[in-house]
Amino acid sequence: MKLFWKVLFSLHLLIETVLGNWWNLAAPVRPVQTSNTSLETFISMHKESCQRFDYLVERQKQLCMLSDKMVQVLQTGAQQAVEECQHQFRNSRWNCSTVDNSTDIFGGVLKFKSRESAFVHALSAAALAHAVARACSRGELNECSCDARVRKRTPRHWQWGGCSEDIRYGEKFSRDFVDVKENKESDEGIMNLHNNEAGRRAVRGRMQRVCKCHGMSGSCSVRVCWRRLPQLRIVGDSLSTRYEGASHVKIVERKRGKNIRKLRPIHADMKKPNKTDLVYLEDSPDYCEPNDELGILGTRGRTCNRTSAGLDGCRLLCCGRGYQTRVRDHEEKCRCRFVWCCRVHCEICRSKRDHHVCN
Ligand SMILES: *[C@@H]1O[C@H](CO)[C@@H](O)[C@H](O)[C@H]1NC(C)=O
Ligand SMILES: *[C@@H]1O[C@H](CO)[C@@H](O)[C@H](O)[C@H]1NC(C)=O
Ligand SMILES: *[C@@H]1O[C@H](CO)[C@@H](O)[C@H](O)[C@H]1NC(C)=O
Ligand SMILES: *[C@@H]1O[C@H](CO)[C@@H](O)[C@H](O)[C@H]1NC(C)=O
Ligand SMILES: *[C@@H]1O[C@H](CO)[C@@H](O)[C@H](O)[C@H]1NC(C)=O
Repeated sequence: MKLFWKVLFSLHLLIETVLGNWWNLAAPVRPVQTSNTSLETFISMHKESCQRFDYLVERQKQLCMLSDKMVQVLQTGAQQAVEECQHQFRNSRWNCSTVDNSTDIFGGVLKFKSRESAFVHALSAAALAHAVARACSRGELNECSCDARVRKRTPRHWQWGGCSEDIRYGEKFSRDFVDVKENKESDEGIMNLHNNEAGRRAVRGRMQRVCKCHGMSGSCSVRVCWRRLPQLRIVGDSLSTRYEGASHVKIVERKRGKNIRKLRPIHADMKKPNKTDLVYLEDSPDYCEPNDELGILGTRGRTCNRTSAGLDGCRLLCCGRGYQTRVRDHEEKCRCRFVWCCRVHCEICRSKRDHHVCN
């Protein structure tokens, strides 16, 4: 029994001591000395670079070393997650800004078990599944390629062909890589695991079937179809909708035999979240004022929209502090015409525009 607790305690320590999350891979990485680029040095550099990311746990380092291109795929996933987050939150008080001098690129913002944390977890798990499946179909990874399993279902009026992107492998990898960091016993871990899965489902649920016609002079006697990943923007849009309707939950203990801990809505009359819903346990921190410790920039200086009643409107974005209006020179292309052949010629039109900035 003593040994059990000792093991549990050291496991706990293991989880606690690795600070920062894998999405830190989005930050620019200082290259190792790259004077010699022979294949062997490249491969050993690659393995070294997996070891160098001290915010990765051991299993993540192993997975990172699976293929030569894996570091790049992981970086792509992380970067696309950050870009998509910044796009989705461009009008919000917290605009998904990143900081340099922190163990996490998002600063301390995600220490809160908030809606924003739910969104970032879901989006990054989704982006990784997406990046891995895309790399599979491009032949960049050793362990996967196109999804051959879709061909087992035989349709009537068309046939499978081409390269179906293997979202199942992408999901499996994302589950293995992202979820390993979470402690299933902790409240935060239960929340993050739920949101990671919701993110991955947002990708799977938006896979598309695309087809191409073959046959004599466009007769389309043979239609060949394959499954394609959705653009990450589509996934981001859908997770953004989930974020707006995210469920505020608590953890309840079910003591039937062994302890089972489950997520339940904080109020009994609220809908029970399903597997595609985002869930959060805590209110968000105040994003209105700067907080150096948490890496929150505040909304001073943000551009707001005077006529909008939404999040980007001056009233909400400026947190009631008001705003200043400045007149700015505005340049845009105009009076464009087509010049034979094949050019579009535009003029530059200048005008004065009002520009509203939060106090
Ligand atoms: C790079 O390769 C050259 C020979 O091609 C060798 O002399 C040199 O020591 C190598 N440098 C490093 C850093 O490995
Ligand atoms: C989950 O709930 C959302 C509403 O919160 C609903 O739109 C969606 O269809 C549900 N999904 C499933 C798989 O039941
Ligand atoms: C990060 O840097 C800013 C200013 O450069 C400083 O105010 C802040 O305390 C630093 N944060 C941490 C966590 O070191
Ligand atoms: C987020 O807002 C800050 C001002 O609070 C601004 O400096 C920064 O460029 C914005 N970041 C993005 C990604 O839009
Ligand atoms: C400001 O908000 C209004 C109303 O939502 C919208 O029609 C307009 O395009 C917005 N302007 C800018 C510059 O985004």
